[in-house]
Amino acid sequence: MKIAVASDHAGYELKNEVLPHLEERGIEYEDFGTYSLESTDYPSYGRLVGEKVAGGEADLGLLFCGTGVGISIAANKVKGIRAVVCSDTFTAKASKQHNNSNVLSMGGRVVGTGLAIEIFDAWFDATFEGGRHQKRIDLIESN
Ligand code: RB5
Repeated sequence: MKIAVASDHAGYELKNEVLPHLEERGIEYEDFGTYSLESTDYPSYGRLVGEKVAGGEADLGLLFCGTGVGISIAANKVKGIRAVVCSDTFTAKASKQHNNSNVLSMGGRVVGTGLAIEIFDAWFDATFEGGRHQKRIDLIESN
């Protein structure tokens, strides 16, 4: 299990606050940037993580920008990516159970560190339920 991680400048600090939690849990990850607070463009980071997941180099993706929105939109442009923006644990868990989300995105200007870690855990620990939900994902993929 490997997670591809990235952020823009607005998600940089939250990313750096959440990543130690992955290390504590023994979850392997690779951080593809950005590596400073210098202003940068989120689309390239969202696409890069989307490509890592869709291409099988990573199992899941974890993204951060100011709201979590822009970088998730960029990731969702990659076929096979189901990126979700979450600021609550219920949505995070349900997005994996029902939508088999493969990328989680959060906003550094939206959630604090403690909540972000709880959201990550709710998402990471949830399992796709399959069944009727698989049919709906197949419909998304056929669009
Ligand atoms: C950067 O200012 C901000 O627009 C970006 O991080 C993100 O929130 C976009 O969706």
